[in-house]
Amino acid sequence: MPNSDYLPVLTNEESRVVYYAGTEKPTRPGDVTAETPLSELYLNWTEKELPERERTKHVHRLHPYLGKYIPQLVEIFLRKFFTAGQTVLDPFAGSGTTLVQASELGINAIGYDISAFNVMLARAKTACYDVEIVEREIRDILARMEKLAQSITHTPHQLSLFDEVSTLPATPVTQAENVYLQEWFAPDALRELLCFRSLINDYQYQDLLRVILSRAARSARMTPHFDLDFPKKPQIEPYFCYKHDRICQPTTTALQFIRRYSLDTVKRIQDYARLRTSATTEIWHQDSANAHIPPIDGVITSPPYVGLIDYHEQHRYAYELFGFENRHAEEIGAASDGTSKKAKRAYQEGIINVFANVCRSLKPNGYLIVVAGDKHDLYGDIAAALDVRTEAIVQRHVNRRTGRRSSEFYESVFIWKKN
Ligand SMILES: C[S@@+](CC[C@H](N)C(=O)[O-])C[C@H]1O[C@@H](n2cnc3c(N)ncnc32)[C@H](O)[C@@H]1O
Repeated sequence: MPNSDYLPVLTNEESRVVYYAGTEKPTRPGDVTAETPLSELYLNWTEKELPERERTKHVHRLHPYLGKYIPQLVEIFLRKFFTAGQTVLDPFAGSGTTLVQASELGINAIGYDISAFNVMLARAKTACYDVEIVEREIRDILARMEKLAQSITHTPHQLSLFDEVSTLPATPVTQAENVYLQEWFAPDALRELLCFRSLINDYQYQDLLRVILSRAARSARMTPHFDLDFPKKPQIEPYFCYKHDRICQPTTTALQFIRRYSLDTVKRIQDYARLRTSATTEIWHQDSANAHIPPIDGVITSPPYVGLIDYHEQHRYAYELFGFENRHAEEIGAASDGTSKKAKRAYQEGIINVFANVCRSLKPNGYLIVVAGDKHDLYGDIAAALDVRTEAIVQRHVNRRTGRRSSEFYESVFIWKKN
């Protein structure tokens, strides 16, 4: 980074760029008010200052999702720029972090996402549940699964997925999903997953059960334990596992994951139910460049980065299990499009189209808070193409040292105001 002493730097009258030192006290989100100066924020949390269990509190860890931003960052900007009763928009809602945090503060929230799985996940997190029914339903489906497990695990492997097995109420699978699912799951694991899937229709909170099933499926895939995010091919032989530092066997069953995630889900929903308010939350499965967005007070979002993640492919198992519509071609900045000059231009156009559409529904002087890793320096041009002025750009030093994905980079928080 250009700034060595981390003092706030004024680059010109309009745009204020602030760098933050790593020596100050981390900002506690609950202390932030509308009056807190940006220059007093300390957002460079280390792993110790903001450990993973706090970043993944309550429903934030209902299901893994690569590319989320951290809820504490969102809470700080919600507290600074919004008040209860207002409406915040996230046009790239992803796993729903903005919407979850907004509800805690009594702020209404609207989200859009192009990925059907993400929309389901965000809805499952933000729905208003009767927590007693949640617990009853999850315990009931689990008990039924346990009963059926015997018949499932004793089923000879030679049986095809299409065979009638009276004790195993797995719904038939299509030929296409048969190919993907048979390739990535051991036969018993697949039978257990399909069995759970066939029971879901008997319950009220079906999306929540789908999230449990999807999380179990993610863990039950035949992938190395250290490569759940980007597995390249099924791992069918024993392998050396970097995560556990020993030889591990490919997973053969799913029931242990279904069990674990069922109980974990009950607890997470209960925890969040104590914090959420009656503020409204809506999430739509739409391209946010074309959506008819209702009037909003402001925006907090983290757009996809250019050429980094394929958001559909990331949860392919869920698309195959549930037959969700795949709109990968409409994803902005997909990894499969790369980071060529052409891809970067298409990315800028895509992001500009979204924010131009958003600005049509944003009140004058409303804030757009955009969290982005801008290592390709694309956001100056994006801001210039929009009807906004830059109030500040806060640089956040991201320094995580967990797992094999340890990383260190800068993230920008662009604070734009609509003209
Ligand atoms: C960085 S992620 C957002 C993560 C989110 N802030 C969270 O914490 O979960 C970007 C999201 O933008 C979505 N997306 C990409 N192109 C889109 C489009 N044209 N319209 C709506 N959403 C889109 C992706 O599916 C992805 O979920």
